[in-house]
Amino acid sequence: MKILLAGATGVVGRRLIPLLVQAGHEVAGTTRRPGRADMLRELGATPVVVDALDASALRKAVAAERPDAVIHQLTDLSDEDFEANSHLRIEGTRNLVEAALAANVETMVAQSIAWLYKPGDTPAVETDPLDPSLPPYEGVAALENAVAEMPRGVVLRYGALYGPGTWYAPDGAIAERVRAGSLRLAPSWTSFVHADDAASAALAALDWPAGAVNIVDDEPATTADWLPVYSAALGAPTPGSAGKHAATTGRPVSNAKALNLGWKPQFPSWRTGFSQMEGSAAMNGSRSD
Ligand SMILES: NC(=O)c1ccc[n+]([C@@H]2O[C@H](COP(=O)([O-])OP(=O)(O)OC[C@H]3O[C@@H](n4cnc5c(N)ncnc54)[C@H](OP(=O)(O)O)[C@@H]3O)[C@@H](O)[C@H]2O)c1
Repeated sequence: MKILLAGATGVVGRRLIPLLVQAGHEVAGTTRRPGRADMLRELGATPVVVDALDASALRKAVAAERPDAVIHQLTDLSDEDFEANSHLRIEGTRNLVEAALAANVETMVAQSIAWLYKPGDTPAVETDPLDPSLPPYEGVAALENAVAEMPRGVVLRYGALYGPGTWYAPDGAIAERVRAGSLRLAPSWTSFVHADDAASAALAALDWPAGAVNIVDDEPATTADWLPVYSAALGAPTPGSAGKHAATTGRPVSNAKALNLGWKPQFPSWRTGFSQMEGSAAMNGSRSD
């Protein structure tokens, strides 16, 4: 198939291009920056330079590529309040859906998040309600509703992405906070997914039926569970009590639907993923306690 990958230069996009190519697909990948075109070519995609917030340019670009399916991995984390991301989810997704529909594309696979479920005692499944009081709700609901307008719109509700290039990488923002001692134990839940597994889910989802699917690993964890393991992997001191951090919820998240659809994470638990972090204390062979 011919795939248009919007957000091809991101953490997930860069991993996804080779997977798509290996699976026999032809890939056109978007970036706003002409300077990233060579990187996309090297990964195996034809670069398409376009801003998703420019509706008419995006419509022209999608029409010119004539894709069979569109994958949406657009994210904008340029401000601390996530306002740019919310705007991109609302306007960028609207523009992408309209451009895809105008080009008679039937399938769209889009990135959403798995930490918006209302609190509860059991692992959240896709039919459970989202919590409108949480700040990302407006953007996420707009994105998911727009994607549902496609003849086949699949929404991937990703857990907290970790792995090289993410906030959890040894050079990432969360690692810095842990080393600075500003991230602390808390009772809230995080459901993780390795960036490689996020990419493999996007490839698999090209064949999935319409609807939302949680893409998280097998082991949702409270901050009290994962933070000491993560800190040890970084060689940082184990943090004290109380506090909160991004991507947490009052509830673990279930991946049963994704597993039933045939997705098999390469990292079924963050325990393995953290211990294999490049530059981690375990990988360096040093003691971490
Ligand atoms: N996804 C989330 O909601 C979220 C929340 C918290 C933390 N994180 C962290 O963010 C990282 C996730 O990586 P990611 O792949 O989702 O994001 P990313 O690595 O920041 O990639 C974002 C992609 O979106 C593209 N993009 C952004 N604005 C665009 C626009 N207006 N028009 C067209 N393209 C646009 C970028 O392209 P160009 O820049 O090349 O134009 C890039 O390809 C991880 O480190 C994760 O820990 C993500």
